[in-house]
Amino acid sequence: MELSDIEADLTSVLYTEEQIHDKIAEVARQVEADYAGREPLLVGVLKGAVMVMADFSRELKLAASMDWMAVSSYGSGTKSSGVVRILKDLDSDLHGRDVIIVEDIIDSGLTLSWLLENLQKRGAASVEIFALFRKPAAAKVAVDVRYVGFEIPNDFVIGYGLDYDEKYRNLRGVGVLAPHVYS
Ligand code: XMP
Ligand code: MG
Repeated sequence: MELSDIEADLTSVLYTEEQIHDKIAEVARQVEADYAGREPLLVGVLKGAVMVMADFSRELKLAASMDWMAVSSYGSGTKSSGVVRILKDLDSDLHGRDVIIVEDIIDSGLTLSWLLENLQKRGAASVEIFALFRKPAAAKVAVDVRYVGFEIPNDFVIGYGLDYDEKYRNLRGVGVLAPHVYS
């Protein structure tokens, strides 16, 4: 689905599919340089990171493996609950692995700071983070994120994996959700 298909539900368009793909390629080149000769394990956080993972992993010219976790930090609304629960754990043993957490967005940072600590305790050789979007103005905790795609304003955004109440994940681009949709 295109952003133009749901124009009435958007306040603005943030990034087109092409801009997102260019950014993902840019990050992939950095990761290839940083992980030369290694085989990182990409850990995607369901469900938001599905699109980023699909595009980033295929762009990457490294023998990377993939695994998935599902955690809950948000209900069906637009505010962070601050509570993190594992809904689906990894299948992989992290001992000695170079882990890259692949995330759609960092809002308060609560989810990722918790996840980072959780994965570090499992014996990984290294754990770094790639988040496609970050909202600096929403940060409640500082998280050391090695790779950030775009820094965005503190608005609720949808598309490219990001949902509102499970809708809009299948949008090719990313836009700001109009308040009339959720108020
Ligand atoms: P925290 O606050 O813990 O939240 O950093 C991270 C998770 O919250 C979701 N999130 C959003 N989802 N549009 C969305 O569709 C947004 O603007 C947004 N902000 C946060 C997302 O699941 C992320 O992993
Ligand atoms: Mg997410």
